[in-house]
Amino acid sequence: MSLVVLPFKSEDPTLVATNLGVAAAQSAVDEVWAVAADEAVAAPVRILADDIAAFREKTVRVIIQERIGKLRPGKGDAMNTAISRAAEEGWDRVHFYDADITNFDASWIDGAETAADRGYGVVRHRFPRAATDAMITWMITRPALARLFPGSFLPLLDQPLGGEVLLTRVAVESLACSEMVRRRSDWGIDTLLTYATSVMDIGLYEHHVADGKRHALYGSLHELREMLVECLDAARSLEGQPGPAPGARHGSDPAAEAPEDLKRIVAYDVVGSRRLLGMIWPEDEVRLVAHLPDEVAGRLLSAGPDRVFEQMDAGLWYEVHGFLMGRFVLGDPSWESLAFRLWLMRVLAYTIQHASQGYEESMRYLRSTVDLYVTAASSS
Ligand code: DGY
Repeated sequence: MSLVVLPFKSEDPTLVATNLGVAAAQSAVDEVWAVAADEAVAAPVRILADDIAAFREKTVRVIIQERIGKLRPGKGDAMNTAISRAAEEGWDRVHFYDADITNFDASWIDGAETAADRGYGVVRHRFPRAATDAMITWMITRPALARLFPGSFLPLLDQPLGGEVLLTRVAVESLACSEMVRRRSDWGIDTLLTYATSVMDIGLYEHHVADGKRHALYGSLHELREMLVECLDAARSLEGQPGPAPGARHGSDPAAEAPEDLKRIVAYDVVGSRRLLGMIWPEDEVRLVAHLPDEVAGRLLSAGPDRVFEQMDAGLWYEVHGFLMGRFVLGDPSWESLAFRLWLMRVLAYTIQHASQGYEESMRYLRSTVDLYVTAASSS
C-alpha cells in the first residue's frame, strides 16, 4: 500500500493538481494527499483534486497542515502532519514530492518503489541541478554533514535538502515519534529527515533522476534568505548527534551525464544578488565577526563586503562555516543578516570564479570542496 504526499503553499494550483494527477495515475499508488499550508491555498487545489479523484477512482485528499513544531510554521509542519497521519493509518510506503516539480512523472515513483522492493527502508531521489542552483546544499548542508559525520555516507548524499523521498512503514513510525523531527516545523525539516533516516540503519538508496528536478528558479538570492538561516540552524542542531552505524547499508544509482540544457541554466540573478552585499559592514555584524580568529576577521573586515567577497574561497569558507555552526542564533536579526551576507559572499565568489568555467568543472570543484571538508574534519 503506497501513499504519495505533496506538501504545498504558494505553488501554482494547476501545477500542484497536475502532480496530484500524475501520482494518482500510477498503479503502485493507492492514495494521494496534498498537504496545504492553510485553507486559502487549499481551496483552489481541492476543486481540481476532486476531479482527479473521480477520474482516477482513487482517494485524493487535500489536508490542512497542523501546528506540530516549535519553530516557524512551514514545510516541516506539513510533512510532520502527513507523517503522523500515515503512521496512524499504517501505510507501508509514503512518498513525498515537492509540489513545484515541473517534470514529475511515473519514473520518480517507479524508481523509488523498485529500490524499496529490493529491501531499502528509505529511498532518496538524486538528480543533477544547475551549477548555480543548490547553493544552500553545497555551501551549508554538505559542509555541515562533512564536518559532523566525516567518515560516514552523510556528506556524500547528493540531495540532503531534497524533499523527494520514499519512507517505508518502519521509518514513518520512527519519525512520527521523534521529538527532534517533530519540532522542526520550518525549512529545516529536510535536513532533519535526512539525518534521522540515515541513522535508522534500515538501508538507504539514492535513485537517480537523469532529467534533473525541474522547478522554478530564483530572482536574487534574497529569495533564499529564510531557507538559508533555517537550514543553517537545522544543520547546527545535529552537533553532538551520533552518525550512521559503521557499514550501514547505502546504495546509489550511478550519476549520469546531466542534460545539456540544464548545464546552461543560471539559477539566480547574479547582478541583483551582488547588490545585496553592501559597501560597508554594519556595526552589529562587525562585533560578531570579531569573534573569528584575528587573521580571518582581518581579511573579512579589510574592506566592504562588496570588495572582499572574492576572497571567500573554499578554505576561508571552512573557517567561516565553522564559526556559523558554532555560534549562529536563529531569530537574532544581527546573526541572520551576517549569516546571509557571508553565504552570499561565498556563493558569489564561487559563481564568478568557478561556475563560469563550465558545468563539469563546477561540479568537480564543488565535490572537491566537500572532500576537503571531510578530510579537514577527519584530521581535527
Ligand atoms: C538548495 O540549496 O538545495 C536549495 O534547494 C536552494 O536551491
